[in-house]
Amino acid sequence: MNSKGITQFLINHAGKDPVSFHMPGHKGDRLLRKYGYEYFLDNIVDCDITEIVGADNLFQTEGIIADTMAKYRNLYDTKASYLLINGSSAGLIASILTCVPAGGKLIMARNCHKAIFNALTLGGIKPVYAYPSMVEEYGITGPVAPEEIARLLEENPDASAVILPSPNYYGICSDIHTIAGIVHDAGKYLIVDQAHGAHLKFFENADGADGETIATGAFGVPESAETQGADFVINSTHKTLCSFTQSAVLNIPARSTFNDMYTLEDKLQQIESTSPSYLLMASLDINADILTGHATELFDEWRSNLNYFYGEAAAIDGLKFMRVTDGVRQAMDMTKINLDMSACGLNGHQLEEALLKYEIYAELVTGNILMCMTGIGNSRRDYDRLLEALRELSAGCGSANTADASDASEANTAGAALWTKHRLLHEVPIAKELLPIEQCAGRTCASSIIPYPPGIPLICPGEEIGAEEIDYVKKLRSQGDKVMGVDAAGRIAVGK
Ligand SMILES: Cc1ncc(COP(=O)(O)O)c(C=O)c1O
Repeated sequence: MNSKGITQFLINHAGKDPVSFHMPGHKGDRLLRKYGYEYFLDNIVDCDITEIVGADNLFQTEGIIADTMAKYRNLYDTKASYLLINGSSAGLIASILTCVPAGGKLIMARNCHKAIFNALTLGGIKPVYAYPSMVEEYGITGPVAPEEIARLLEENPDASAVILPSPNYYGICSDIHTIAGIVHDAGKYLIVDQAHGAHLKFFENADGADGETIATGAFGVPESAETQGADFVINSTHKTLCSFTQSAVLNIPARSTFNDMYTLEDKLQQIESTSPSYLLMASLDINADILTGHATELFDEWRSNLNYFYGEAAAIDGLKFMRVTDGVRQAMDMTKINLDMSACGLNGHQLEEALLKYEIYAELVTGNILMCMTGIGNSRRDYDRLLEALRELSAGCGSANTADASDASEANTAGAALWTKHRLLHEVPIAKELLPIEQCAGRTCASSIIPYPPGIPLICPGEEIGAEEIDYVKKLRSQGDKVMGVDAAGRIAVGK
């Protein structure tokens, strides 16, 4: 076997006994082996089939795939649930194209994932931006206020639907219950990008045998968008539950008035691969069976591990967590552990590097925050290894890096302000040229400039590029962060 390349990388990584606080949510094969899927795992290549006789068809379901869809209808209490093999991205695009006619208007949070912006391009759809609030201390985007949605609906009676992410990448949720009421009063549909919250539904009943509940414990989670009244809810089961990467589920909750499944199914088959992977679909089937048979014990364990973690971590000097509440509802999904060790002089990047020495892999760095994404597959041992590493870092912490940590925080705050900034909008340019980013102030952007993660476009096609955006993109690139839309030579596409 070639010692370079993707395969060898994966083999080397698996051999390190890593602790995964990043996607996917299964965190390895432990759960699947525990619940009796050894044969499937050991024969995975033989299970990689196509639409042979008896295997059903994702786009005309009447057999085994229909059975798996029925399992999801039961799990999430929906009238329709669709298996997605191109991630939540496909479900989001199909939902938007179903609700908004070509050339129509969509009210959308400005901090939506790039999949939503791609739907705009595909459908020739005009966005009306709802700007989220900011979490000032960390300079990241927060919830979208119901009042903002109400105002935009009043100003844009011709908009067809509303879409927003909840939870966002950091776990911050909007008040979907109130927003759903406002959207329905206006006679529109609410689409919720719950890519990061496929697990929320199962915490709704996960009060512990130890007497500790979601409400009384050290951590909490909001209700799912399915329960709160959304019409389309798109869940990346691969991110926090135990299906494979790229598999996801689109739900139409039982209470929604949306019924045009024919159009939705047509859009799904337009967007997704015509060779759907049976391995991905089988992983969705396994995920459904594990949730159906074992959700109580698994979510009890997850809740108990998080309460244990937050309880122990409270005693670690110099460590704190980002928490957001809106005063009324739980606004933070605390399965996302947002670590802040800036009081120890470590910004997010430095903390990530320090944890890598313990073979602990986190999900996302932003300024002083390092987000560790927990999933259904994390064991108590994973939380213990993270606690142990944090204790050691805290014990060894000095003030040597304090300046760096505050620098990162300031740069980050400036960055977030850019996501909540209303930019001048011009026509999306047809004629384009590639120019060094330094020369682009005042020009009209011709592609999307997307820091990844979190995958939210900083500058969209048609938006005017400002000097602040240029400085921010340069800063990200100098830190080694990926910015899509900027080529290797540091150029971006602008209107000619
Ligand atoms: C907020 C948000 N929405 C949607 C997506 C797309 O999900 P998927 O990777 O399942 O296509 C992502 C991916 O990270 C995301 O962060």
